[in-house]
Amino acid sequence: MCGIIGYVGPRRAEELLLSGLSRLEYRGYDSAGIAVLTSHGLFLLRRVGKLENLRQAVLESGVSGNLGIGHTRWATHGLPTEENAHPHLDCTGKIALVHNGIIENHRALREKLLKNGHIFRSQTDTETLVHLVEENYDGDLVEAVRKALAEARGAYAIAVIHADHPQEIVAAREGSPLVAGILPQEGFLASDVPALLPYTRTLHFLEDGEVVRLAPGKLEIWDRRGIRKGPNFRTVPWDPLSAEKMGYRHFMEKEIHEQPRAVADTLRSELATPWEEGLGKLDLSEIDHVYLVACGTSYHAALVAEYLWEPLLGLPVAAEIASEFRYKGPAVGRSTLVVAVSQSGETIDTLMAVRGAKERGAKVIGVVNIVGSALARESHAVLYTRAGLEIGVAATKTFTAQIAALALLGLWLARSRGVLSENDLQELKEELSQAPRLVERALELGPAIEALAQKLYSFPNFLYLGRGILYPLALEGALKLKEISYIHAEGYAAGEMKHGPIALVHEGMPVVVLYSQEELPDKVLSNIQEVKARRGILVVFADDAPPELRELGDHLVLLPKASRRLLPFTFTPALQLLAYHIARLRGTDVDQPRNLAKTVTVE
Ligand code: G6P
Repeated sequence: MCGIIGYVGPRRAEELLLSGLSRLEYRGYDSAGIAVLTSHGLFLLRRVGKLENLRQAVLESGVSGNLGIGHTRWATHGLPTEENAHPHLDCTGKIALVHNGIIENHRALREKLLKNGHIFRSQTDTETLVHLVEENYDGDLVEAVRKALAEARGAYAIAVIHADHPQEIVAAREGSPLVAGILPQEGFLASDVPALLPYTRTLHFLEDGEVVRLAPGKLEIWDRRGIRKGPNFRTVPWDPLSAEKMGYRHFMEKEIHEQPRAVADTLRSELATPWEEGLGKLDLSEIDHVYLVACGTSYHAALVAEYLWEPLLGLPVAAEIASEFRYKGPAVGRSTLVVAVSQSGETIDTLMAVRGAKERGAKVIGVVNIVGSALARESHAVLYTRAGLEIGVAATKTFTAQIAALALLGLWLARSRGVLSENDLQELKEELSQAPRLVERALELGPAIEALAQKLYSFPNFLYLGRGILYPLALEGALKLKEISYIHAEGYAAGEMKHGPIALVHEGMPVVVLYSQEELPDKVLSNIQEVKARRGILVVFADDAPPELRELGDHLVLLPKASRRLLPFTFTPALQLLAYHIARLRGTDVDQPRNLAKTVTVE
C-alpha cells in the first residue's frame, strides 16, 4: 500500500525522492516524508496530506544531500499524523527507516523495547523496527537489519539508512514489493517500477527473505539464510513517457483510451508466443475443476472468465474472492487448477490464496501485468497482460487486458483438454482478434457518454443490472462509479433484482441496464419493464435498440455489435467513461480516490 523510495549517488537526493514519490503516490497518500543525510546528520521532514505539502516543506528547508529514503503512507496503525508518517528515527537520531506492510508482533516488540529504555514517538508498528535495528547495531548495518528482522513477524518491505554509512541503503522484503536498480555511480530503490523509470529500466525485483545493500554502482544481496547471491536483473519494457499524462486530464482518462493497444498487445504477444513461462509444460491431465482467484477489478475479470470457460471446458469453473477463498476451506487438491488474476502480482490475499493452493498440490497459473512480481514468480506458469504501466488507482486498461488474456487462456485450456478442434480454435482466435477494434469503436461514444454524465452526476445512488456475461460487467461498472465518484452504486444480476434491489427503485434512482441481443434479451427487457413500472430512471447500454427498448429507456447508449464472448470489449469502455465523466463533474480526485490504494499488500 505505502510507497518506498531510496537513492544514493551524486544527484540531489531530496529532488529525486520527491519525484519518485510523486510516481508512487497512487500507493498511498495520507502523508509523506523523507530522510536525507546532510553534513549535519540525518534531516527528517514529514507532512500530512498530499505530497505537495511535503514538496513545499522541502523547498523551504533548503535541505540537500546525496543519500536518502522517502515514503508515502496509507495508514494502517495510527492516524495519518506527522508523528506517524515515515521515515521513523531511532533514539540516537542516526538511523532512519521506512516500511510498507504490517509488523504483526509489534505490541510485544514495543513492550520489550520500552523496557530496554527506547523512547517511542509514534503509534505505528513500524517504529518498533527502527529501534530493533538500533538495538542490534554494532557497526554493520546489514547485520543489524537482519537481526532485527529475525525478531519481526508480518509482511514488510523496508529501507534503512544510517548517518555513519553515507554510501549505503539497506533494504529487505518479506511479502511487500521492492525493486532495486543501479547505474555506474548510483543506486535506486522503490516499491514499484514507475518511480525508477526515468533513471533505469533494468531492475532487480527483490524476493521474499532477501536483504540487500545498495551503494553507488553496487547491489549486494543475501538470501533468507544469509548466503550471498547475485542480482537477477530484468529489463522492463515500459518507456518513461508511460508515466506522463500526455495531454489527458487524468491518468485514468489516458488509460481508458489506451485500451485498444493494451488488448491488442496482450493478444498479439500471447498469440505469437502463447505458452510462455511454463504453460506448455504444465501437465493438466488430472484437472477436473478450476478456481479463479482475485480481488477487486481483477475478480470481475475472473468472473468474466467463469462465464467464458465453463461452457467451453465442460468443467466446473468458479471465480472466488481471494480473501474469502483462503479461509473457507476450499476443496483444493491435485486435481485443482487455480488461476490467479492480478494486475500488480503483489496483492497479498491473492498471493496467500495461491500459496495455500500450491501446498495442497494444485497447479497454479498466474495472469499478471507486472513482470517479475511475486505472483509471476510463484505461479507454475504465467500469462502476462501487456497493458503497460497503469497509474490510475481504479483499474481500467488492465481489466480489459485481463479479459483478453483469460479468453486466450480458455482456448488453450480447451485445446489441451482435447475439447476444441483445431478449426474451432482458429475461428475463436479470429473472433478474439476483433477485440481491439471493438474497444476503439466503443470509445468513439465518449462525447455522447459525457453528455449523459451531465444529466446523471448529481444522483446519490445507482443500480447496475446485467445477466450472463454482462453481470460481471455490471459489477465492474458499479465499482468504477463508486470508487472514483463516491456515489453509492450496486451491481446486481438482473434476475436477482426482484429479490431485493427493486425496493430501492423510485423516480430518483438511475438504473443502468446492460442489454445485448446476445445475452437473454427478452429476460432483460422484462427487467427493464419492471424498473420502468417503478419510475426508475432507465439508463440503457445496448448493442441493439428494438422499438420496445427505445420506448422504455430514458437514456440509451447504442454500442457497436459484438458476439457474446466479445461483449466485455464494448460494454466495459462505455461504463468506464460514464464513471470517469461523472467523477470529473463531481470534482473528485479521479486518479487517487480517497482511502484507496493501487496495490494492496496488507490483509
Ligand atoms: C486494489 C486496486 C484495484 C485492484 C485490486 C486488485 O483494490 O485499487 O484497482 O483491482 O486492488 O489488485 P491486483 O493488483 O491484484 O489486480
